[in-house]
Amino acid sequence: MRKIYLDNACTSFPKPRRVSDAVYEYMTRIGSNINRGCYMDAYSAEEMVFDTRQLLCELFHGQDLKNVVFTKNVTESLNVILRGFLRPGDHVLVSSMEHNAVMRPLVQLQAAGVRFSRIPCGGDGSLQTAGMEAFLEENTKALVLTHASNVCGTMMPIKEAGAFCRKHGLAFIVDSAQTAGVFPVDMEECSIDALAFTGHKGLLGPQGTGGFLLKEDMIRQVEPLICGGTGSLSHTEETPSFMPDRYEAGTMNLPGIAGLHESLLFLKETGTDRIRRHELLLTEQFLKGLQKLEEKKRIRIIGKKDTENRTGVVSIQTLSMDQAEASALLEERYGILTRVGLHCAPSAHKTLGTYPEGTIRFSFGFYNTQEDVDTALEALDDLTAAGPACCAACKASLPLRSTASTLPLRSVLNERPLDVQRPSETLRKH
Ligand SMILES: Cc1ncc(COP(=O)(O)O)c(C=O)c1O
Repeated sequence: MRKIYLDNACTSFPKPRRVSDAVYEYMTRIGSNINRGCYMDAYSAEEMVFDTRQLLCELFHGQDLKNVVFTKNVTESLNVILRGFLRPGDHVLVSSMEHNAVMRPLVQLQAAGVRFSRIPCGGDGSLQTAGMEAFLEENTKALVLTHASNVCGTMMPIKEAGAFCRKHGLAFIVDSAQTAGVFPVDMEECSIDALAFTGHKGLLGPQGTGGFLLKEDMIRQVEPLICGGTGSLSHTEETPSFMPDRYEAGTMNLPGIAGLHESLLFLKETGTDRIRRHELLLTEQFLKGLQKLEEKKRIRIIGKKDTENRTGVVSIQTLSMDQAEASALLEERYGILTRVGLHCAPSAHKTLGTYPEGTIRFSFGFYNTQEDVDTALEALDDLTAAGPACCAACKASLPLRSTASTLPLRSVLNERPLDVQRPSETLRKH
């Protein structure tokens, strides 16, 4: 059975072939660290990292390529920015659609005397900009905003939010996890002071890559979270104050950055406009098909039903069957990979009315096709027409894999409460 990967909001797959080639090439032919060796391979690695900063600076309209910092993902970037910038007594604004990459650091920072207010969003996830001023306090220091919801794809008006921040003297911190590489993210135009990105989603790079860009006057205000060797100023135990060394202590993920370098070149050559058009075309086709199923009361579309101000992330709830079962059957019978349950954003689910049961999330990428969308729609039509999953499975005489064999070994051993929803034991026994 052909694998149909519809979990690109989690991480994009596949990557362009040249990305893994670049990682392999780096590991087998270069392999050196940067800023430490005085030999040609080290210089060539430094050049590759320099070029990657330049490509990112261009893509995001950053002020200066030296203010592009590498981390291992957007979560780390947001931790560096929030923990380094906020002080006891500070107050920040967030939307009610934020991912835990924003909310968990903020909730921890509450113990250090930082407070936050959530700006409510509508039932489709859109930011209610009109009422934002009411949440301002004397000590409000920043607005932290995701560019698009990872649960339902609704986009936030970052240009308008940036203007609001300028007007009220707030720093504007943006989480671009769901948009970078597909939608324009312009730091200048949107008055963004700190932009956090991840390399492995729309940027099509390897996992373990990410970073952030800072405007010049943020640099002095964001204290580094991690200090150590940088290959510079080795005569002193003080952390360098210059960029990017201020935030880049320790050996970097250079094979990952080599892959990201190649994926950024791929994006530049292909054109992000073309990628966006393709993903939105598939999203439109999917939403149209879903609306027919919604009319038959088989599913419920969560969030916006059109492609205006949205990404290629679509969440649904199945009405006639358990959604974990539906997601498992999508894979077993049709090879379709989705994500089910809560998607690391409890406040977003509460806003959308899908807490605590969550949703089945489909997310399209550049390598998906119209045929993939047709298959997903046919699969949903089939499954939801059949009624409860256990009966459908029995009718089709398709034994489901045992729960034990579908659980990753480590989670069985640790019994960690993972979010991944598994079909219930009772259903599986049928
Ligand atoms: C909106 C948003 N923010 C942050 C993250 C965290 O990304 P990463 O795991 O790459 O740090 C995600 C990933 O799903 C996301 O969708």
